[in-house]
Amino acid sequence: MGSTILVTGGAGFIGSHTCVALAAAGYTPLILDNLGNSDARVVDRLARIIGTAPRFIEGDVRDRALLDKLFREQPIAGVIHFAGLKAVGDSVADPITYYDNNVHGSFVLAAAMQAAGVRTLIFSSSATVYGDPDSSPIPESAALRPANPYGHSKRMVEQALADLQHAHPAWRIALLRYFNPVGAHESGLIGEHPQGKPNNLMPFVCQVAVGLRDKLAVHGGDYPTPDGTGVRDYVHVMDLAEGHVAALRHAAQQPGLVTLNLGTGQGASVLEVVKAFERASGKTIAYEIGPRRPGDVPAYWGDPSLAQATLGWRAQRGLEQMCADSWRWQQGNPRGYES
Ligand code: NAD
Ligand code: WQD
Repeated sequence: MGSTILVTGGAGFIGSHTCVALAAAGYTPLILDNLGNSDARVVDRLARIIGTAPRFIEGDVRDRALLDKLFREQPIAGVIHFAGLKAVGDSVADPITYYDNNVHGSFVLAAAMQAAGVRTLIFSSSATVYGDPDSSPIPESAALRPANPYGHSKRMVEQALADLQHAHPAWRIALLRYFNPVGAHESGLIGEHPQGKPNNLMPFVCQVAVGLRDKLAVHGGDYPTPDGTGVRDYVHVMDLAEGHVAALRHAAQQPGLVTLNLGTGQGASVLEVVKAFERASGKTIAYEIGPRRPGDVPAYWGDPSLAQATLGWRAQRGLEQMCADSWRWQQGNPRGYES
């Protein structure tokens, strides 16, 4: 068995896919998750993909005593920290809950790691730290202008971890800024299942395709983009998962801190996603163009060239595959892990 990697939030969307990539690369994932936005049945699905069930601890990353016990009892070589809350609107409505979970949670984890002498940390940041960028593709050096408490929480943790690494140079830290993660593992056994009405485009399109919702509301058709709809850098969740493995391998080489965009470097509009999904699924996606969503940026995509130069990582999977894999998961599991 390879090195044990603690995966906080490992029952969630990106965390579960990263457990698959870790196992494929010879690591042993150990999941810590409070199941606030996930389902423990993901562990059985992971067992079917990986061949053995990853160890799962139900608990909160803010529970210092639990973390101390885990670091004492398990030979943990590094941590990938996904645990956190991610709904922008909720963060505006309830900022303290967001700061407590995302910022305080990261601080408790970092302090427990420091005490245990575990100094390798991969952190889930977000392209949301850029806010409304001056231009695209966005390099890591772009100004950071988060526009909501969720984005601020990611920015704050990035700053705190940079300060920590400066104070204690033995730390090996990667801050990974994801663009728009979509898709699912190609087996169709794991994927994204938002609770309630999806906020994000791809899960909403999936639910229209499977008949759970009547039509997609396209949030704005008058943006200064080629077809008037919003443009984003959608990245396949398995590409992201493999990016985490590459970041771990990089961290193993030398102490330091890297900040990297994980995206494809290409933008796709809402209508391009709808059309690609229709081709991949053979379904027609009913949609209606409505007003802009408050707070939305017209268009942005990332510059992933630093990640390629640093990690040797590049997104491999295109929009068609993102749609095909999302659809396979949705079709086989219309009610998520309950299905
Ligand atoms: P997710 O909600 O599916 O996964 C997060 C997991 O963390 C869930 O399983 C949840 O139960 C768990 N969790 C939350 N708070 C916890 C706590 N205090 N203790 C233990 N477990 C806790 O979300 P995701 O899409 O997989 O996102 C993972 C990470 O990536 C998050 O930090 C998110 O902010 C970041 N991120 C996500 C996106 C995106 O669009 N999905 C984009 C950029 C960054
Ligand atoms: C994509 C495009 C919408 C839903 C969010 C967070 C960001 C990051 C990723 C975590 C936009 C349009 C959407 C719908 C639509 N998460 N849309 N109808 O807003 O780019 O990013 O998730 O870090 O922080 O803000 O993603 O999927 O919501 O929207 O027309 O029902 O689809 O307007 O142009 P977004 P999204």
